[in-house]
Amino acid sequence: MSGVDLKLAVAPLTTGVVGTALPRVDGRLKVTGAARYAADQQVAMGPAAARVLHGVALCSTIARGTLLSIDAQEALALPGVVAVLTAQDLPKLKKAVADFGTTSQPGEARLLFADDKIHYVGQYLGVVLAERREQAQAAAARVKLRYLTEPPVITTEAAMPTAYTPGTGFGGEPSYRRGLPEREFADAAFKHKQTYRTPIEHHQPMEPVASIAVWSGDELTMYESTQWVAGARSVISQMLDLPVEKVRVISPFVGGGFGCKGFIWPHSLLAALAAKKVGRPVKLEISRQQLVSACGHRPETLQTVALGASADGQLRAIMHSSVSQTSTVDEYSEEAANVSRYLYRCANVQSVNQLVKVNIATPTIMRAPGEAPGLFALESALDELSYQMKLDPVRLRQKNFAEQDPLHQRPWSSNQLRECYLLGMEKIGWSQRPAKPRTLRDKNWLIGYGMATATHIGFRSPGAAKVTVQADGRVLVQSATQDMGTGTYTILTQLAAAELGVAVEQVTVELGDTRLPPAPMSGGSMTAASVGPAVQAAAQHAISQLKVLAARDPQSPLHSKRPEELGVDHGALFVYTQQQQRESFTALLRRLRLPSVVGETSVDAPENNAVSIQSFGAHFCKVRVDAELGLVRVAKHVAVLDVGRVLNPLTARSQGHSGVVMGIGMALMEQTRYDARSGRPLDDNLGSYLIPTQADVGDIEVAFVQTPDSHIGPHGARGLGELVFTGVAPAIANAIYNATGIRVRELPITPDKLLR
Ligand code: MOS
Repeated sequence: MSGVDLKLAVAPLTTGVVGTALPRVDGRLKVTGAARYAADQQVAMGPAAARVLHGVALCSTIARGTLLSIDAQEALALPGVVAVLTAQDLPKLKKAVADFGTTSQPGEARLLFADDKIHYVGQYLGVVLAERREQAQAAAARVKLRYLTEPPVITTEAAMPTAYTPGTGFGGEPSYRRGLPEREFADAAFKHKQTYRTPIEHHQPMEPVASIAVWSGDELTMYESTQWVAGARSVISQMLDLPVEKVRVISPFVGGGFGCKGFIWPHSLLAALAAKKVGRPVKLEISRQQLVSACGHRPETLQTVALGASADGQLRAIMHSSVSQTSTVDEYSEEAANVSRYLYRCANVQSVNQLVKVNIATPTIMRAPGEAPGLFALESALDELSYQMKLDPVRLRQKNFAEQDPLHQRPWSSNQLRECYLLGMEKIGWSQRPAKPRTLRDKNWLIGYGMATATHIGFRSPGAAKVTVQADGRVLVQSATQDMGTGTYTILTQLAAAELGVAVEQVTVELGDTRLPPAPMSGGSMTAASVGPAVQAAAQHAISQLKVLAARDPQSPLHSKRPEELGVDHGALFVYTQQQQRESFTALLRRLRLPSVVGETSVDAPENNAVSIQSFGAHFCKVRVDAELGLVRVAKHVAVLDVGRVLNPLTARSQGHSGVVMGIGMALMEQTRYDARSGRPLDDNLGSYLIPTQADVGDIEVAFVQTPDSHIGPHGARGLGELVFTGVAPAIANAIYNATGIRVRELPITPDKLLR
């Protein structure tokens, strides 16, 4: 695999260690197994009667109906079994406020054990507690559940007669229009209209979800696999009717999330209620199989895209409608049609997101919710239009480049999309792409090239951090944010080290604990943008205190200097005009007999309605398709990304590669199918839910067009984890068409769809 290309850098991109390729500071902990994920936490090691109990959730095996009875007699007689708890044994939960972005969000609006109605396979009906996990598993298999079964509604088609338009979602109004799209479409010189489908996909993090609930009197500590400790604490405290300060949520390491650990799901409450009931800590691990219904999925979407273009390739009309599935107990909208509102310059746009309710567990955000499936439809449609017009697909996009945000009618904070196209064309060797499909061949392999645009909003939320500069030379950085494997520990180390002018080895970062200063969800690719500036500001706050201490101290060489006369480097304060006049932080603190100074700040996201902060990118892909077997190999994939400044090229490349790999999964493999009669998931295991392995991944190159974006924050870095994933699947689908002449409008593109 090729390295990161930073040659296009146009501005100074490193400040101290920021912008350099610092290897993961938590790498050693990860490879030695010292990093403790939720289920690894060792709690309550005391006497046997206080030790942690293992819970296994009892899950509904029907998709719709009424629970009649639970017979646990046989299970309770098994060795090690302590209790089988059901709705009757546990107190009712309270509703929590759903307030994404500020305080909390339950994963599912229906409260655990709300009533005896069953809405999907996997709905929790109780929990078995035993001394050992295997004992609890064996007992759970012996619990007899009796139901009154009703026929479930499983497919989008079956639910279509009841399709409806939901309320305002994460991405704004469900329906949008500007201009006269129908009329312009009718009059257009070139028209394309097709329907596209994306399947249910599951996040499949390496670490499935788990909770350990430990009560001490009326105080609760939860070890959680969560992307948002503060949100978890808020939801758990509200639902259990506890003051928020009585709940502590700890999540120092998260083994991938992709959105399924963004909100608080019923298993966490089940663990907390069970632990309270039996008076012992309870560990509830959700198995890979149970993950299918435990913490959301990307819902199926059925999208129609109509494009009208003038003879010279200007888009005159875009009409994009999407119907996605939600559960019968909550309303989650995938909002796939939203991308068409802003990605291209077009005066006449209609974009509508609708929902149907099915008896499948509640869906949730999954890496680039909305954009990922939406761009599969839009970018496939543009590709189809380009062949109809005999116009190069890059040219078509260049002609419709949006100089400013057409949705909000204001400038982009920064937009290097045109550079991304040019660099991507060069890197993939676009000139070798045959204009006519199915004309390039290497023996049995059909070869094709495809491309697509990537885009994702540049989110930022308020965040807080604490930076402690110690007399012993150590620096402690603390924030209640999370590292899902993305590199948060590492980039916060870099930002603090650069700000304080100390070596990265001196810096320790502590994350994932609600006792630390609050931070937003590690979602929406906003952690670097939200928490980074908080760490920078906290470090500055510490420095300003050090300056005051030095200026006040007659024994300091910096005595009576004004703050603006002093700079910082190598862990010392110095006088700008006389750089040898300096004093180290440690010398100053030791002489004053102070153990440390503490900088603590909470920074708001800047209110800026003058610009739209958005990231862009371009994917270019070369595929080889076995003409007889329909096997697809992504031979080379180039992702060129415009994310402002790159804080760390190593962790950024890792995010880039992983996004492309996940995109290969979306394009070629991933789907969760359900039996339409029973509502049972058919792909609730990694034997049939396929994700790419090393052998499925070819040469990936990730390049960055770096232009620091001052609008996002002082470090100039927008998020990239979701951006890079958007557009991968359509780029591959478009390359497959170029190779085979077969247009597949339904993901995943499995070999059967390419045989003819
Ligand atoms: Mo991401 S879907 O915002 O965790």
